[in-house]
Amino acid sequence: MTTQAPAVPMESISSLARIARDLDLLKFDALFTTAALLRGGRPTHTKGVAVTGSFEVTSLPTYPKNTFFTPGRTFDIVLRHGNVAYDDDAAMDIRGAALRLVAREGEGDHKPERPIHLATPAMDLLMNTGEVSFSSAKVFLDFARASGGTPGHEGPVDVRALEAYFKPRPVIRRQFEIGLRRAPSSFTRLRYHSQIPLRFHGGDGKERYARFRLVPGDGAPEEGFPSASDLATPWLQDRHVGETRDFQYMRDEMKARAHAHATYALEMQVYEPAGQVDVAMLDPGRAWDEEALPFHAVGRITLDKALHPKRTEDLAYNIGHLPAAFSLVPCRTLSDFGSIGFVRAHVYTVTQRVRRVMRKMKRLGELGRQKKKRHFRSKKHFTKDDKRRDSSLVGLIFGHVWRG
Ligand code: HEM
Repeated sequence: MTTQAPAVPMESISSLARIARDLDLLKFDALFTTAALLRGGRPTHTKGVAVTGSFEVTSLPTYPKNTFFTPGRTFDIVLRHGNVAYDDDAAMDIRGAALRLVAREGEGDHKPERPIHLATPAMDLLMNTGEVSFSSAKVFLDFARASGGTPGHEGPVDVRALEAYFKPRPVIRRQFEIGLRRAPSSFTRLRYHSQIPLRFHGGDGKERYARFRLVPGDGAPEEGFPSASDLATPWLQDRHVGETRDFQYMRDEMKARAHAHATYALEMQVYEPAGQVDVAMLDPGRAWDEEALPFHAVGRITLDKALHPKRTEDLAYNIGHLPAAFSLVPCRTLSDFGSIGFVRAHVYTVTQRVRRVMRKMKRLGELGRQKKKRHFRSKKHFTKDDKRRDSSLVGLIFGHVWRG
């Protein structure tokens, strides 16, 4: 059983169906907001490294003409790599590549005086290792709940709950396993896939869909595939006993790679229905046959340097940042094939808002602490009452505002 999708993708939905669908979104908001608060940052892909560089569209495209990827066009880019669940680079985990294309001066609304991490995106592509995702947001939610498990378990994954969840669901287990990579030597030795099909609007008005992948520019083979024994227990993702590498060896390595001008190639697969769209082709849980639908070169990325960690925290990618040539596949319910894209476009903005608030609170806390230190130093005599008042949170914030 791979799908619970309807027979046709829905272009328009009734207001009642819309309300039901949007109410379902609240479950994602609750889950991911809690995770963002607990992890003190992004709820997934929490630990990462970002690098900047440039992207040049190939001069001899083999994919259909469109207004965005035009031959020879160049963009500035910022690329962030991260592990989905684990802070440890040596764990067996899915790895991500969030790619932002920013139009250059004279193209669109990029203001050159704005630093790259704050520039308006022309397109964000969020990709993970593995060709496929789950078929719908509903499946993703059930999986995320099982994986998060009950409070009190050790580590980012509730091993027992995940094992029990996978037992009667071999297809979902396989869709998860496909993206796992154990302790690769570098983020640049992996292949990242957009997984969900996007609508692709060429100049000729034909119905088309596209999937992207990011591959090493030097064609190096992919590393980190789990062994047979790893695949026998995909819920056991911790680093192997005897692994001595640092927790963040891949993030450190990536910084060096950027300065050495490593390259990536961006590629696109295009599905053009011969007649009516084959709805099964819109299933994010099913890969497209590469022989029938080969990947086309879209362009080449050349990295130049690592982004400062503070700037990296400010990055806010969203799958909904798309140019007119691409759009999300619509969905009517959170069991449809288009639902993963729909939910992500919404939930990323929610967790990013949470992050902004957390950052503000942190800054306020820091200011409060500095102020408090100065205050105690300058006070010759202070009573026990003063001390108690000043060490409460309210005291910190209120005191900061009150004392100017
Ligand atoms: C319903 C399914 C999904 C949900 C609910 C979801 C949710 C999220 C959330 C909440 C974040 C953090 C966003 C932020 O605070 O900045 C995130 C990050 C990310 N997601 Fe997803 N995700 C889903 C599926 C996917 C899929 C299928 C992919 C890849 C094809 C993906 C790739 C990424 C990447 C690469 C990031 C990290 C972005 C960064 O580096 O800032 N996600 N996801």
